Parts: sequence; C-alpha cells; structure tokens
Amino acid sequence: MDRISLYWRNATAEAIGDKHGVTERELQEIAPKIKQLYQEQLNDRKAGKLRYRDLPNDSDMVDAVHREVEHFRDKCDVLVVLGIGGRALGNIALQSALNPYTYNLQSDRTRPGPQLFVLDNVDPDQIKAVVDNISPKLKKTVINVISKSGETAETASQFILFRDLLEKKLGKKYKEHILATTDPSGGTLREIATKEGYRTLDVPEGVGGRFTVLSAVGLFSAGMCGIDTDALLEGAAAMDKRLKEPDLLKNPAALIAAISYILDRKGKHISVMMPYSTSLYYLGDWFRQLWAESLGKQVDLKGKDVSAGQTPIKALGTTDQHSQVQLYREGPNDKLITFLEVERFSQKLAIPESMKDVQTLRYLAGSNFQTLINSEKLGTEYALLESKRPTMTVLFPTISPQTVGQFLYLYEVAVSFMGGLYNINTYDQPAVQLGKDATYALMGKDGYADLAKKIEPVAKRDKKYLV
Ligand code: PA5
Repeated sequence: MDRISLYWRNATAEAIGDKHGVTERELQEIAPKIKQLYQEQLNDRKAGKLRYRDLPNDSDMVDAVHREVEHFRDKCDVLVVLGIGGRALGNIALQSALNPYTYNLQSDRTRPGPQLFVLDNVDPDQIKAVVDNISPKLKKTVINVISKSGETAETASQFILFRDLLEKKLGKKYKEHILATTDPSGGTLREIATKEGYRTLDVPEGVGGRFTVLSAVGLFSAGMCGIDTDALLEGAAAMDKRLKEPDLLKNPAALIAAISYILDRKGKHISVMMPYSTSLYYLGDWFRQLWAESLGKQVDLKGKDVSAGQTPIKALGTTDQHSQVQLYREGPNDKLITFLEVERFSQKLAIPESMKDVQTLRYLAGSNFQTLINSEKLGTEYALLESKRPTMTVLFPTISPQTVGQFLYLYEVAVSFMGGLYNINTYDQPAVQLGKDATYALMGKDGYADLAKKIEPVAKRDKKYLV
C-alpha cells in the first residue's frame, strides 16, 4: 500500500530560525507530555471512550453500509445527501478526492454510480436548482438524510421538502427512496424512520459529527458513487497501526500536534491547509471543521479561561499563489502552512510542443502538468522558507482510497493530541448551540419565546449605523 508521509523540516528552527521554527529543545520538552497523552488515548480507547479510533475495524458497520449500497445502487441515478457539518463535509471531501472533477456530468451509462448532490446549506436558490434538476428523475432518486438528532434546522427543513417532493410524485412508494442515517435508538429522525418504515443506517454512538467520515455517515454516498470504501478503511487502519508509536519523532499525528502547538505558542495562530491538487481541496473544508470545533474552546479541563484554538484556513495551490501568497510571505508571520503534495497524479498530462518557437514559452514545451504543479509547490515552499514562514508537507504518493483513508485518520488523531496539549475537551462544541437556539427562537419553535425577546433589539436595525 502507498504510504503518505509528513515532511516537517521547514517548520523547524534549523530551517527558519528559533523565532519562527520549532527547536529541538522544544520538541524534547514536549515529548514526555506526548507520551502521557499517548497512554491516555490508549486507556480511553480500551474504555470505549474514543470510539472514532475503532471505526476502520467495525465490521458490523461496514456490512450494513455494503448492504444498503447493494440495495439502492441499481435503483438510483441521483443521490441527494441531506446533512450539515460533520454529516456532509466528509462526503464532499471523499467524492471530490476520489471521483473525477466532471463525475456529475458523465452520462448515467459511464458514471460508476449516481449523480451526487450533497446539500449542506439552506440556500433556497441552491436547493431549488437541485430540485428542478432532479424532478424528472425522481423515480431513480434516493435521498440519504443524515442527522443524529433529526432536529437540526437545515437538515430537517430539507428533509421535509424532499420527502414532500417524493411523496407527491411517487405516492406511497416514496418511502423506498429514503435512507435515514441517524441515531441507533432515539431522536426525531429515528422516530420518523421507524414510523414511516424507511431503511436506516446508524450514526455511530459516542462519536462527534466531525469524526464520522469513516462511518456510515461518509461511507454510504462514497460506496454508492463507486469509491472503494474497503480500501479507504484499510488505509485508515494502516495509519492506526503506524500511530501505535509513543515516540514523538516516529508518530506523525503526534508530530503534527506538537509542531502546531509549539508554533501556536510562537504566534502562529492560523493553520493553513494548502493542497496542490484540486481533488484534495475539499479535505481542507473537512480539516477546517475538525480543527475549529475540536480546538476552539474557551475553558480548559480545569475550568480555566484559555480561549484556545488555531484558526484553520484552506487555500489551493497553485490558484492561491496568485491570491494569498503575498500575504503569507510579507504579512504577519502568524501562520503554519501545510501543503498537500501529490507525487504521482493519475494523469501526468503532457504540455504539447507546438509553441516551442515562442522563446518565452519554450520552457513549457514537452513538459507536463504534473511537473509544473509540483514545481510550483516547491517554488512556493522555497519562497516561504526565504521569508522564514513555517511549512510542512503531507506527501501523497498517489491519490487513492488508501491514501485518503490514511490522511483522514492521521488528522483525527492529530487533533486528539492537539486537544490534549491544550488540555481541553476536544470532542464537544458548546458554542455552536446558542446560534442554533436563536434560529429556533426566530423561527418560532416552541419553548424559545424568551430567547426571541432577547434577540429583538439585535433584529431592529439602528439607522445610525446603516449607510
Ligand atoms: O460535528 C458536529 O457534531 C456537527 O457538525 C453536527 O454534525 C451537525 O450539527 C449536525 O448534527 P445532527 O447530526 O444532529 O443533524
């Protein structure tokens, strides 16, 4: 199996000096803490408190996903996934990493699975565009509604709309077109699914949304769209084996965390993930949720105000060289930049020689796009090094289900180490709730009237500030 690897010299003091890079001494100082966290993770895992770690080996879950893919595949030309946050970002990342850019445009005959629309917003124009597009194909449309609670306003509202659409067109048969991925035993969506008789998959218990990409949440749409989900999990399991290593310098997840943490303390409060690959770009969105919701915490485990976190940003190479790199080199030195580099793309794609007579373009003639994109990556890495900006690279020998599985698992474990270093609760997201409640209040949900009153002054626009 191709192995991804982490190259981290350009984040060290050896490469960019003590002020902005990680020193050997800092790594030596943090190593015992990493060992302790490693041991704690081991204990937590044994005690069933770190259930995301065991998803790659959950054969019951895998069988259930295969069963549903088998059931729906031939009946489906369009798959619409309804979900938000941890119920959508993994699906989008897998699809864009592992299927061609033009997947949805291929004909039903050549595509390895249905067209896929992952609706992770309640933008009426976006939803209506999808509704209009799929309306003629409803007989071969499947809706995978993913929500643990079933009460999330975005997913619930979309579900009501699509259920209605299916029922109006297909009558009682509409139920056969819905797969609900939800809490195994309780919650609004489980109740509806049981009452109406939908097929279901389980959201894994005790695993936060942002850690569920390698469960039924992310795997069903991937499997439907022809992605080898077994290989994806094999990759994750292989990374799990590599991470059974308490030595900081041999454990890439611990290293990512240690470097990020040390550099955060040196003012690198921003973590940029910059794939030099359009396919891998949406891993950046998945990473943003993982890093932001896991690490952005006001208090530590002792209740002390720490306002922890590192702001995750995504950028795309080479595109953002022409948009962001000016800032990354000359703006505040407050970022750790992680490149994702692909050593062998599935296509090298030659640049024809037809313009070799144009002297200023001759260097391109006969080369190829793989060499060009990787030269641009190296060029940017060098330019940032010259400006003493810390960077790391995750090297993908190829983009495959195995390497993507390794990457997802690597960063999940890295964030666990990082949360441990901050001594925070990595797995909750208490600050998300107030905005959700405020929406309920504004939409008139029962029990939120007092909150609605509190929001009234904000809702009134003070003309003094309106220009
Ligand atoms: O990571 C998370 O926990 C969130 O992004 C949730 O996945 C999101 O809020 C959706 O929640 P639910 O599954 O209850 O609809």
